[in-house]
Amino acid sequence: MSKILVTSALPYINGVPHLGHMVGCLLPSDIYARYMRMKGCEVLYIAGTDEHGTTSEVGALKEGMDVQAYCDMYHERHARTYKDFNLSFDFFGRTSSEQNREITYHIFEQLDKNGFIEERTVKQVYSVDDQMFLADRYITGTCPYCGYEKARGDQCENCTKVLEPTDLINPRSSVSGSTNLEVRETRHLFLNLPKLEQRLAQWIRTKEPFWPDVAYTIAQKWLKEGLQERCITRDLKWGFPVNKPGFEDKVFYVWFDAPIGYIGITKQWADEKPGERNWKDWWLDAAGVRHVEFMGKDNVPYHSITFPATLLGTGENWTQVDYLKGMSYLTYEGGKFSKSEKRGIFAEDAIKEFPADYWRYWLMSNAPEGSDASFSFDLFAAVVNKDLNGVLGNFVSRVLKMTSSKIGDAIPSGGEMTAAESELTAVLQARVNDYLKYMDEMEFRKAMNELRAIWVEGNNYISAAEPWAVIKTDEARAAAILRTCINLIRIFAVLSAPVMPTVSAAMLERLGLKPEDMPLLDNFDVSREIAALQPGRPFVVGEPLFERIAPERIEELKQKYGSAK
Ligand code: MF3
Ligand code: ZN
Repeated sequence: MSKILVTSALPYINGVPHLGHMVGCLLPSDIYARYMRMKGCEVLYIAGTDEHGTTSEVGALKEGMDVQAYCDMYHERHARTYKDFNLSFDFFGRTSSEQNREITYHIFEQLDKNGFIEERTVKQVYSVDDQMFLADRYITGTCPYCGYEKARGDQCENCTKVLEPTDLINPRSSVSGSTNLEVRETRHLFLNLPKLEQRLAQWIRTKEPFWPDVAYTIAQKWLKEGLQERCITRDLKWGFPVNKPGFEDKVFYVWFDAPIGYIGITKQWADEKPGERNWKDWWLDAAGVRHVEFMGKDNVPYHSITFPATLLGTGENWTQVDYLKGMSYLTYEGGKFSKSEKRGIFAEDAIKEFPADYWRYWLMSNAPEGSDASFSFDLFAAVVNKDLNGVLGNFVSRVLKMTSSKIGDAIPSGGEMTAAESELTAVLQARVNDYLKYMDEMEFRKAMNELRAIWVEGNNYISAAEPWAVIKTDEARAAAILRTCINLIRIFAVLSAPVMPTVSAAMLERLGLKPEDMPLLDNFDVSREIAALQPGRPFVVGEPLFERIAPERIEELKQKYGSAK
């Protein structure tokens, strides 16, 4: 049995996640983790909140809260939302944990000992009234190129020009609005990436066959352009104080301790059951672990360059990424999700409107793989009404209702398998093989397409076999057809389980089965599974699995969440 370590990028704690975050890393990682468990692998699925950095300090300030209390509150909110979305983490932790501090300190000490840490003096904008150094994006002023008055110190949103904070006309602090700013010198620690370049390039070559195009291309581009030293400390209060004499008043940069958070969170998980769980089995000198990471494409450079280099620089044998799944962006009704402009649906609200499985299925069948994808309520409703309600839901209720009314509430006995069933079996086996192949490859859109095609085969079969007509002349044959259809319900439930765990469990429940009764997904043999349920087994017809979304409801949702821009 192989060991699969699945990680989702750790969402920033400030603010609540929207559908773009869900589809970018959280959902695909969950679907993959569930799928690999169903293949019989030993899976450890880790995620958590990314809590350090200026954004948390500023967020807390804006809400008039202490940073720790702010993070505690938002951590709970994130955790609740992901639970509502049925994400099956083995542990959902925090980058601010003691365990993460310990591992961050250790990794830093190793890097320093091995000569990869440099001290440098840099010039930075200091806000006298806020008593803090300001990150570039926390300085606002007038753009020297287009005159836009709310340009940020790193970039003008209006004309997209990349700026230095000192380019801004009338610069002011975005934290307080104060214009009492000075440029001050400050000393920082840098990770000497150029010194690690060769080792990194060598390591990346070993990963070539496993890395999807985007990640590999991005990594190669960075290497070609030459790596720069990266500042890994900040003049902030919120974060891990740097464990080096002379730097105790600084903290580590959020992007230094965040990916180490995967390890820290694993230790949090292990510390829950000492003696039973060991974080090193997954991370340090760990044999036979395959590490699969999920993230939005903006995260790729950190995960393919900076973090691997950090681990390589320790000289220790850390588990590195084996496969990196990067997602593009999801837009909302053709525009950007924007909290300030009240446009877009946030995960917390989404779950109040429809059950998690509707979102899970829609988002994965429209996953922004390769290129960006767009969410709209029209598209959402079309998929729910057509694929879920029309194809899957309809098949289940049609089969169970018909069997119940014509024969009784148990799996019918009698009749034989015929050529029609052999043909169905062959067609399904080919589709199932493709579905499993796409899931293995993490090609989620294609996998969902195949899953829908599998459901469609059920409808095609029953339409062609016409049990409602056959029963008038040949009861045994009709019984065999309906028995096959009920077995298909079980097969559909099993195959749909990674993406729609709740619907899958509901389908199984009608047949008196539990999720634990599902067969493994490796070597899934349709000819065996199609005859798995024995005659006589009771079932219940139940309520429709899905609700139909009416046109008026769609309009209502568009009004409520803002429409296209
Ligand atoms: N917080 C980052 C984001 O939301 C992701 C950090 S991933 C980590 O883009 F691994 F570094 F934590
Ligand atoms: Zn501008």
